[in-house]
Amino acid sequence: MPTNENAAETFKRNKARWRNLVFMRKLLVSLFSEQQKVSIKQKLETVSAAFSYFFASHRWLASFYYFLLSSQFHREHLAILKGRSAYRQKLNQVVNSSALLRRNIHRLEKGLIMQPRRPVFASDYIGETVHHYADLHRYPDFDQAELNWAFQVLTCYFSVVSDGRNKLVDLARQQFINLPVVAAKDTTQASPYTKREAVRAEVSFASLSKLFRQRRSVRWFLPTAVDVTIIRQAVNIANQAPSACNRQPFRFDVINGSKNAAKIASLAMGTTGFAENIPCLLVVVGDLSCYPAERDRHVIYIDSSLATMQLMLALETLGLSTCPINWPDIEFREKLMQQKLELEIYERPVMLLAVGYADPDGGIAYSQKKDDQLLVREIQHVD
Ligand SMILES: Cc1cc2nc3c(=O)[nH]c(=O)nc-3n(C[C@H](O)[C@H](O)[C@H](O)COP(=O)(O)O)c2cc1C
Repeated sequence: MPTNENAAETFKRNKARWRNLVFMRKLLVSLFSEQQKVSIKQKLETVSAAFSYFFASHRWLASFYYFLLSSQFHREHLAILKGRSAYRQKLNQVVNSSALLRRNIHRLEKGLIMQPRRPVFASDYIGETVHHYADLHRYPDFDQAELNWAFQVLTCYFSVVSDGRNKLVDLARQQFINLPVVAAKDTTQASPYTKREAVRAEVSFASLSKLFRQRRSVRWFLPTAVDVTIIRQAVNIANQAPSACNRQPFRFDVINGSKNAAKIASLAMGTTGFAENIPCLLVVVGDLSCYPAERDRHVIYIDSSLATMQLMLALETLGLSTCPINWPDIEFREKLMQQKLELEIYERPVMLLAVGYADPDGGIAYSQKKDDQLLVREIQHVD
């Protein structure tokens, strides 16, 4: 909910604008017969296709189109730039996790497991990493598991990269050694290991296949409350999903209770008819402030979707069903969501997830799946 009067006012204004828009649209639509509506829609689609054809004919025409004629990407541009700027600011105002630390420690781990391992590596970023790691001890709320991981990997790094080979590494080593000893709050083993030592699941292809088939989008739930500790339990295994440079640039905002869930679910377009039936709703929020450069702007969508897939399966094993819900990139909906969840502009909703106990009598769409004939293309020859 908005925390100050200005935000509350803007929120009310946007809501009123949205209502007016919906009203005007309904009024306009009611003036035409069904046949006229279909015909108008077809004509508009033809014009739109012609526009797309013309403006897609050259790169600069496309840029002109999205700069002057369409505002569809304006929010995304702003979000990415705000994210880049927040990335820099956050280096000095860390809260509980650091994208820079996570990425650099990940890179060190890759260097440590490299075959063959180079005698000296990471000299270009080891100074920055140790400096940042030292600085993070100032923040009482910083995640202890993340600090422990960094400590163990840095210890491992300095034990294998020998002294006197590189000045930058030696300087970083001195800084690391001279850090005041702080009693570790987390001492879990958190440095590279071999595949031989890795956990091995006793899941057969057949039982995994059963779980995959069991998970289907469920839209009809029992009015049973969902205990948020179950969501947390599932998140704590879904978090094993891969993510680019192990940054995990997302979080799950939980809106529990069907009344509140409906308020958020109805902002999306695909919940007509079942928004009020959702006992618990998750908003998957991607964080663009984890990146200093535009090239990684899609990673929030990829990483959060990989984790959300694992989350859906994890929830299935705990007796809960889910339905992913599309979050359309439409300015007024984005604004409403931003205000309701108090999101920064660089925090972007990726999708919503309805969660609840499935009504055993509720229908499930069959949803035929494409098979390998359609999904696999074998490339025989590469130049
Ligand atoms: C990104 C995404 C967005 C979706 N959006 C909606 C939605 O808005 N409304 C809805 O009812 N289902 C939505 N779904 C569910 C799909 O319709 C469903 O996954 C698909 O038809 C396949 O069915 P299954 O999930 O049962 O395998 C979405 C799924 C995904 C992955």
